[in-house]
Amino acid sequence: MTDEVRQRKIEHVNIALGQDISAPQRASWQDIRLVHQALSEINLDEIDTSVTFLGQRLRYPIFISSLTGGHPDVTTINRNLARAAEEYGLALGVGSQRAAVVDPQLAGSYTITRTQAPGAFLIANIGAPQLIAQARHAPFTLEQVQRAIAMIDANALAIHLNSLQEATQPEGDHNAAGEVAALRQLAQHIEVPVIAKETGAGICREQALLLRSCGVAAIDVGGAGGSSMPALEAARAQAQGDEQTATIGQLYRDWGIPTPIALVESGVAGLPLIATGGVRSGLDVARALALGATLVGLGFPFLKAASESYERVCELLEGTIAQLKVAMQLSGAGNVAQMREADVVVLGATREWLMLRGFEEELKRLARRKRSRGWQIGAGRR
Ligand SMILES: Cc1cc2nc3c(=O)[nH]c(=O)nc-3n(C[C@H](O)[C@H](O)[C@H](O)COP(=O)(O)O)c2cc1C
Repeated sequence: MTDEVRQRKIEHVNIALGQDISAPQRASWQDIRLVHQALSEINLDEIDTSVTFLGQRLRYPIFISSLTGGHPDVTTINRNLARAAEEYGLALGVGSQRAAVVDPQLAGSYTITRTQAPGAFLIANIGAPQLIAQARHAPFTLEQVQRAIAMIDANALAIHLNSLQEATQPEGDHNAAGEVAALRQLAQHIEVPVIAKETGAGICREQALLLRSCGVAAIDVGGAGGSSMPALEAARAQAQGDEQTATIGQLYRDWGIPTPIALVESGVAGLPLIATGGVRSGLDVARALALGATLVGLGFPFLKAASESYERVCELLEGTIAQLKVAMQLSGAGNVAQMREADVVVLGATREWLMLRGFEEELKRLARRKRSRGWQIGAGRR
């Protein structure tokens, strides 16, 4: 079983780097328009990008999303990501630690993150399917989950929700019954904050409220529109000659709730939100902040950069941060709190969805926040 998981980890990385696994964008960041402030009164060079997430101050609202680990060949990727997290004061998630929990010999590709980033906010990662009984394995014990946290001295634990991926994976775990009770139990007994993390199919309003009732501390809305786990699994199935699973993977390539929609839907829970899924620029980061995110995650762009070099990761970050600051200035935001209060107009398919789901008042509120605060010249920085 650990050999199988270990092998899958390297296949995931190789396919993601070698093939196009992106989901087509139907309702997307293009629908999210920040309202330009011609007299912003903000100095671009003095913008404060710091943010507090689960009690820790971070220098940027950019999150290096949970990507990999569990195979010696990905150690360099995690080393490059961790060095950048330390250098830039970022939060970093590791990939699923399932294999290393079962076989500690595989821990090196994860422990490197703490060695390289002693001061960073590190997030451990276990799948919800591992918390319950599956046809081929018993549920993890609390002690096993704690082992994942201890492995990287994690500041928080992400439980990834990936029913879509499991259903489209040749050897996937099919049982999702009992995950709610298991999550609730875990959130009560684990010593670090638990983050519920979707992996590309998004979180709707009702599920966000359910997650809050389970006691999670934050939600990564992990919406559709970026890397597609079904596309990834379809490529694996194809390579194994499993036509039926490959066809299912392609059919569900763009299944799910797009990230901007998932952000608005999940906002009702009142928990800190991470926006991951299809974020491809600093402008997208700003858009996600305006829709209520506290942190904004990028997956594939970091994977690609880290597979090349540490310097490429730094270049990606420098570019994204510079782009973010421009959006902040033009939105009249001198800091992240102000960016989260910037006026934002939601158009197109995103608006259509949100209207049908009863978010009309929220859309109006998002579009007129400055006006409703009686905003005047200079008021943005008081
Ligand atoms: C190769 C690959 C491996 C991934 N492995 C994990 C994982 O182990 N655990 C997890 O929670 N998410 C995993 N993800 C999902 C990412 O954390 C992220 O949610 C997803 O890539 C969407 O972001 P993006 O569109 O910026 O790539 C993985 C993604 C990719 C591309």
